[in-house]
Amino acid sequence: MRLTKEKLHQLMSDKLTKAGLKREHADIMSDVLVHADLRGIHSHGAMRVEYYSERISKGGTNTNPNFTYKETGPCSGVFDGDNGSGHVAAKLAMDKGIEQAKKNGISVIGVRRVGHTGALSYFVQQAAEEGLIGIALCQSDPMSAPYGGTEPYYGTNPIAMATKGADGRIMMMDLATTVQAWGKILDARSRHAEIPDTWALDKDGNPTTDPNKVASLVPIAGPKGYALQMTVDVLSGILLGVPFGGHVTSMYHDLTEDRNLGQLHIVIDPSRFRNAADYMKDINTSMDELSNMRPAGGNDRVYYPGERSMIRTKRSEEEGVDIVDEIYEYLISDVIHNNRYDHKDAFAEG
Ligand code: NAI
Repeated sequence: MRLTKEKLHQLMSDKLTKAGLKREHADIMSDVLVHADLRGIHSHGAMRVEYYSERISKGGTNTNPNFTYKETGPCSGVFDGDNGSGHVAAKLAMDKGIEQAKKNGISVIGVRRVGHTGALSYFVQQAAEEGLIGIALCQSDPMSAPYGGTEPYYGTNPIAMATKGADGRIMMMDLATTVQAWGKILDARSRHAEIPDTWALDKDGNPTTDPNKVASLVPIAGPKGYALQMTVDVLSGILLGVPFGGHVTSMYHDLTEDRNLGQLHIVIDPSRFRNAADYMKDINTSMDELSNMRPAGGNDRVYYPGERSMIRTKRSEEEGVDIVDEIYEYLISDVIHNNRYDHKDAFAEG
């Protein structure tokens, strides 16, 4: 089913409101989800509404959170999300970071006690659109075994950074620190297909090609990805005094419980380092130099990070967003699931 972004937004916001979220929060959450679908990151778009709605209806997302913000210094602050929608808290916290960075040059905002926040690109883009550099890191539930280990300890702990060039193009790095997202394993299970032996490990810590035997996901670049996962966990978890590493709750463990996740936002004003116009001009120059490079065999050309998502966004805005039929049927129905995601073991054989 192909939908305009406005229609998709309305359907998602209606469903989240029906589940119990206030309209103002449902609208912001739907903004973040539409942003992901437009970019082609469907793993973090409409596909998640079934899960979010079940969680909201069961009380695992606070529908009346008391958001608080405390400026802890000229360049720092702590935003407490009171376990409301993570998407909403992360957006509002980035607004605070932008305000502080414009005033004082740099801002580091800890976002604590939040639920799942979705695609980090949304939040760093907020800063990039203001001519600032946005960086975000966050925890997610334990799914990845440390290098040399057998048990999941860190999450897919993503990292994102965005900055704008003089002509408005945005460089966007936004990546999970595992070789593949969990959704890709589920996809292989549903297709009864094998997975490459570089994606996941079985319960003994050996590479597996059977998606039903997956017991943990492999970090990107071996020990380097594992080091990045711990870095994200230190900066967005331990630093903020929320549960860390293997103590982070699973997304599906108990949908009535608070998640208490952490996220860190860093905002930098380039004009504190050099002439901002020159900085943005050089961003464009490096994008152009990359685009003009002779491509390696099998590639049409070199893309700068975020370029393909930007092309997909433009296309989806003009032609509509493709949504899986079952998800569309769910969105237009009256259904709020009661027991589809609750207490599910992510690694249980599919
Ligand atoms: P991905 O694999 O689609 O892309 C990763 C990065 O590689 C991006 O910066 C992209 O621009 C770049 N890239 C990919 N192909 C490219 C190409 N051919 N040329 C140039 N650059 C290219 O992203 P991934 O790792 O699957 O993450 C998807 C989303 O999941 C992200 O938005 C992330 O924030 C989100 N996420 C959120 C979590 C949460 O708990 N909130 C947990 C994990 C991921």
